[in-house]
Parts: sequence; C-alpha cells; structure tokens
Amino acid sequence: MSTIDTEQTTDNTDSGAPIRRLAAWDTDSLCNLAAEFETPLYVIDAQRVRENCARLLDAFPAATIRYAIKAHSGQAVLKVIRDAGIDVECASAGEVKAALAAGFNGNRIQYTAVNPPARDLDAIINWWQENKQLTITVGAADTVERLQERGFDGRLCIRVNPNVGAGHHEKVTTGANAKFGIPYERVSELATQWATEFDLVGIHAHAGSGISGEDLSSHEELVRRMGTLARTITECAGSLEFVDVGGGFGVPYRANDPPLDIHTVAERTRDALGTVDATLAIEPGRYVVADAGVLLTRVNTIKSARETTVVGVDAGMTTLLRPAMYDAYHEIENISASPTTDSMPVTIAGPICESSDIFAEGRSISAPTRGDIIAIGTAGAYGYEMASTYNARPRPAEVIYDDSTAKVARRRETRDELDVLETSSDEHSVSLSSVVSHSHSSVAPESTMSSSSTGDTPPGGESQ
Ligand code: LLP
Repeated sequence: MSTIDTEQTTDNTDSGAPIRRLAAWDTDSLCNLAAEFETPLYVIDAQRVRENCARLLDAFPAATIRYAIKAHSGQAVLKVIRDAGIDVECASAGEVKAALAAGFNGNRIQYTAVNPPARDLDAIINWWQENKQLTITVGAADTVERLQERGFDGRLCIRVNPNVGAGHHEKVTTGANAKFGIPYERVSELATQWATEFDLVGIHAHAGSGISGEDLSSHEELVRRMGTLARTITECAGSLEFVDVGGGFGVPYRANDPPLDIHTVAERTRDALGTVDATLAIEPGRYVVADAGVLLTRVNTIKSARETTVVGVDAGMTTLLRPAMYDAYHEIENISASPTTDSMPVTIAGPICESSDIFAEGRSISAPTRGDIIAIGTAGAYGYEMASTYNARPRPAEVIYDDSTAKVARRRETRDELDVLETSSDEHSVSLSSVVSHSHSSVAPESTMSSSSTGDTPPGGESQ
C-alpha cells in the first residue's frame, strides 16, 4: 500500500466533471506511484469510476444499467461498480466468473453469447443451475439449440442485428456486422416461438463502441428500430421485461474534444425508443472506466533519427494495444519534466519488435531525458484488458487508489509465469492416428462431449 495526494485528482461532488483529462491528474502522485510500483503501471482512480457511475445513474434514472465488463474486468473495479448499484454484461464464461467472484448475484448478470465455445456454454449452464435469474443473450438460432441441448429453459434475451452501426473505428462498428445478432426481420417470428420455450425477457442490440456526439443519430436510429420491434414482439409473443440498446457511449481522447452530454444522450434515447411496455437497458463499458485510468511508462532510450526523435519507453502495444490496433489517440505527457522544460515533437515507441508498436508520432511533449515518466491518458478502458504477452513480455501491474491509499490490484506478471503452461514433450501425448480417425468420425452432439474433449479441465488442473 502507498499513500498518495489525491487533492487534485478527486472531485468531491457525486458525479464529477463530464471528463477527467490527463492534465487533471496529480503528477507528483503519479511519479511516486511509478517509483513505488515500477513501470509499466496502470493507475486506476476508484472515485472516478464512482463518479462515472453516478453520472449514468443520474442521466438514466429509470433504466437498467449494465456495465460491459470487457472494458475492465479487475475485481477492485467490479466491486466499486457493484456497490454503485450497476449490473453487468459479460461476453464470456470468464467474465461471468469474474462477476460472480466480485459478488454480483445471478439476477445482476447478463451473459451475451458471441459464437460461444462449448466450454463457455457448459460453464454458464452450471452457474445458471445455481443462479436461475441469470439472463442469456443469444445472437443465433444455433446457439439457442445448443442451450436447449444443455437443458436451458430460463431467461432468454435475443440479440438483434439492427443493420445500423456506429463507432470510433470500423473495427468496433458492430451493429450492421453479420457476426453479431439475428437479422432484424427474423426476430419477431423467432421471439414468438422462443416465448413458448423460454422465459423471453428482452431484446438487445449494440451499435458499436466510441459513439461521439456526431454519431448520435445512428444510435437513435438503432433505438428507434428496437422500440418498433419491442412493440411488435409484445403483440405477438407477450410483454418483455427490457429493451437493451447496448453501450458505446464515447469519451473524448483528445484534449480539445468535447465530452458527450450524457443527459442529451439519455433524452434522445428515451425519445427514440418511444412508448414500450418494458424497461430501457444500456450497457456502457468505456464510459465507466476510460478516464479513471492512466498508464505510466518510463523512458529507456532516446534516439535522434533522420526525421524524428524516437523516445523508447517500457510499455508497448502489448501493454496498451489501442494505438496499434485502431490508430487510437491518447493524450501523452512527460510528467517528470519541470513546467519550464521546452516541448519538442517526438515519436513515442515501445519495446516490441513490430513497426506498429508506436504510441504517437510527431507528438509534442516536454523534452524527455532517460528515466522520465511518461503518462498516457484515458487508458482505463480496453487497456489492461487487451494486454498480451507477445515477445515474451509479462503483463504490467495495476494499482487502484481510493481515499488517498493506493494498492496493487493486479501484480506484475513475472517472466517465469510466462512458461507455466509449457509441458515437456512426452507428457499428455496421444497417438496421431487415433486423433485423425476420431476427427473423421461423425461429430457427437456437444452436450455428450467429455469435459476433456471440450477442454474444460486441463489435465491435472482445475476447471476454468
Ligand atoms: N455491449 C456489447 C454487446 C459490446 O459488444 C460492447 C463492446 C459494449 C456493450 C460496450 O461498449 P462500450 O460502452 O465500451 O463502447 N477494444 C475496443 C472496443 C471494443 C468494444 C467491443 N464491444 C476499443 O478499445 O476501442
């Protein structure tokens, strides 16, 4: 544990400012945390997570709010969200496990099955046996069959492909992507059938991630379509408990971008939905955690290249993938420099042997020297979650602070831990011919597969 000065970093109002920019963090505290816990280091401010929850609850007082765990699934963060009274949306068995571990009851958990592997369905059904209030959202009739094979007849929600998408990058524009949801025009017929076989509780759609004020009309169009569909389903299949219009509320990553006016978003969402005999539900992820986190990284190399100065840092695309994957912009500052240090344009690059391992090019920061701490802003969402061990690089540590006290929420992975899954070549071996003949035989229904064939139980290990 470590004590930090949070005077500048917390806001005493319940819901705080609409956005916490990098400049609002207390740089002395951040430098202390980097010294204490080393880098690369994610820092999460629990109070800021609370403020973001409070703003959503205030803007959507009558809605069910489900936090999309995929943005940040750490236990410490989940407990803050649980205590704020917000429910969760989970995209995998692993995320459901995290939600249960954080103390969410089944009635606060919605599992969204996206081409679910058999071992996910098996685990979910086991948990459902104990938590019958858990809701399963399905995006394919095929998934419904697989649930029925496993005896599921509980709370079902249909994921709709509304054929309208939005988002900060084509890779996160989901609503019109064939991978997600059942085509809009097929849903009422299937709903009528499934209402007789399950407890049909809702319909769901998600436009995409990082919706800005300019994309709001796409979000509204999606909501309008969902309102129309809900009214049709109510007539032909009976009333629904909720209409879930997904998440996607964006946050400004650039210092001068305006924040979303969440009250306007809420008002336009309610208007677009119209009158429905069901509760509105939303699933924000990024909005809850993005500006509650920064990534700290240390300068290790400074190199004058032909066209630029390259500042090498110890975080890379394996620590924060968003710039490499989506060309995402994050505010970056040299927080070790004194206020009088001149700025200079630099390229900020990580230690991964890939050309895409660049956080920013032509970015002006206070002239760095080796050992300086660089802070990367708005890194609380899809930061640690997307970290990997590529190039045999252990994942970073994460600290969370609350009430002036910082503690390690996720300790730094060690190099030794990267090898723990390796087995020696003669362990767990099978004859290749038996594997080949098995794969040519007719496929057994998944529900009759043994847990070892679905990979649920690692040999000699604990079920995941
Ligand atoms: N609900 C569903 C069904 C989703 O697929 C997602 C995000 C959300 C809710 C939450 O969306 P949010 O409010 O966080 O925008 N890695 C990307 C974002 C991928 C989002 C995937 N789905 C990024 O770093 O921008």
